[in-house]
Amino acid sequence: MTKSSDAETFQAEIIRRYDAPMYRAMLEVYGDQIHPGFLEGDDDDIREAALRATARLAQLANITAGASVLETACGVGGTARYLAAARGATVVATNIARSQLATAEEWTRNAPGAGRIRFEFADYHALPYADSSFDVYWCQDSLLFSTDKPRALAEAARVVRPGGIIAISDLVVVGTPVPDAAALLTAISAPGFWSAEDYRNGLTAAGFEGIVVEDWSRHVLPSFDLLTAEIAAKRAQLAAIASEADVAETLERYALWCKASRTGNLGWVALVGIRRTMP
Ligand SMILES: C[S@@+](CC[C@H](N)C(=O)[O-])C[C@H]1O[C@@H](n2cnc3c(N)ncnc32)[C@H](O)[C@@H]1O
Repeated sequence: MTKSSDAETFQAEIIRRYDAPMYRAMLEVYGDQIHPGFLEGDDDDIREAALRATARLAQLANITAGASVLETACGVGGTARYLAAARGATVVATNIARSQLATAEEWTRNAPGAGRIRFEFADYHALPYADSSFDVYWCQDSLLFSTDKPRALAEAARVVRPGGIIAISDLVVVGTPVPDAAALLTAISAPGFWSAEDYRNGLTAAGFEGIVVEDWSRHVLPSFDLLTAEIAAKRAQLAAIASEADVAETLERYALWCKASRTGNLGWVALVGIRRTMP
């Protein structure tokens, strides 16, 4: 996405979506981890599965007690609470969706490790933090919405200290989609997906090295199928929080995610890298 007016329009749409009552309703489905998960067996729970993905990323990034983490696009703070409680990290968790930040604060008030978590408004394209101020930059399943991914990664490199870590997971394009599949991917994420290779190159260009990529793609379709089934099963409950029209629109959007997953051109990867100490 190049034109700044298009970028602003898209970003406004993302804020509108995540601040809307329907997203509050979607927490009945997602719990506090708003991303796909590692499902194990037919009767697995999407919330447990999503937490497994978070735990795996924390393991890849080797988050240890006392690490200072900047989390961007933190949703409602599920990962911040996990990193603080299970890993002993200190987390500044940021988002552009103010109602999600409010929910995050509410759900963190009495949570284990709450004293090590702070929630703040920040756009990952322009972070309000000094250079080299964190040990770890963390962003889960949200850079797909970036209207300027090189800029977001440059910001990550700027705020992480030399020798510090970047840990991201995201949905990616796999292979070269035929025109119908490409149209589906455009329909579900307007700024355009990157491939795993684009992220690897983007991280290198931004100033990270020793990049490890782990392919999580096999989990995408089962996750979207289960999420869609749960939205349908909880239809009345979700409509009572948002509206029947909102639920119908969300089901249509998730049907697109499932359809895109079935093309084989929608993947999911985790990437971890180290901030270069020399320019
Ligand atoms: C799919 S949710 C993932 C939330 C969280 N990372 C998780 O995994 O639970 C996407 C998140 O990206 C946030 N987001 C989108 N664009 C952003 C931006 N430019 N800066 C910061 N957050 C952004 C949304 O508000 C939303 O919370």
